[in-house]
Amino acid sequence: MTRANGLLIAIDGTAGTGKSSVGKAVAARMGYGFLSTGEMYRALAYKVFAKNITPEDHDAVLAAARALRFTFIRQPDATLKMFVDGEFLGAKLHLEEVGNVASRVSTNGEARHVLTEKMREVGQDGAIVMEGRDIGTVVFPDADIKFYLDASAEERANRRVKQLQEAGEKPDYAEILRLIQERDYRDSHRAVSPLKPAEDAIIIDTSHLNMEQVIAAVLEKLPHHAS
Ligand code: DC
Repeated sequence: MTRANGLLIAIDGTAGTGKSSVGKAVAARMGYGFLSTGEMYRALAYKVFAKNITPEDHDAVLAAARALRFTFIRQPDATLKMFVDGEFLGAKLHLEEVGNVASRVSTNGEARHVLTEKMREVGQDGAIVMEGRDIGTVVFPDADIKFYLDASAEERANRRVKQLQEAGEKPDYAEILRLIQERDYRDSHRAVSPLKPAEDAIIIDTSHLNMEQVIAAVLEKLPHHAS
């Protein structure tokens, strides 16, 4: 092990594959921290949205990224609670509009560079599970172990519909599927850090697996896990 505190575990993949839940559970089992890096792109999106900046306005988005001040406080469940300019944004980051703007601002290469540096500061000493789109390819190409989770767009749309129904909403399956396909296309076709598995990533197709099975599949591959 080359890092001060433990392994650096990267989990990448498309939206809606359960990366966060899996990452959190694996981190808890290992006694590691967990960071969902999409939250950082969502924080940038939130600021861009609040300041009425067009997500395609390169310089304004870059300035907003540079101005972000993140602090992370480790919670009992291993997650790192993120404060943005001293404020906990919580559920505001998970509004559908914020997710959409996040996908758009994340095509800005220079803003990505700024956020990537901030992610490296958090993860460099290890003992952490970092979840995102480009952790294993760009942020930490030297991660100790890399996973890439995938699932069909239809299955991910089903999961999202179920989630929204459980939250008391009446989601439209066709619309959700369309948004997922649109986001996948944008995330995997952007010029900078397009979504793709690292060459040395372990790919797990979660379409026909439940959460417990995915967690077990990840834990099984870890060098030092105590089962
Ligand atoms: O995982 P998420 O849905 O919270 O991510 C929100 C957006 O951020 C997503 O559209 C892609 C982008 N993202 C990224 O480009 N790179 C990352 N490491 C994490 C997220």
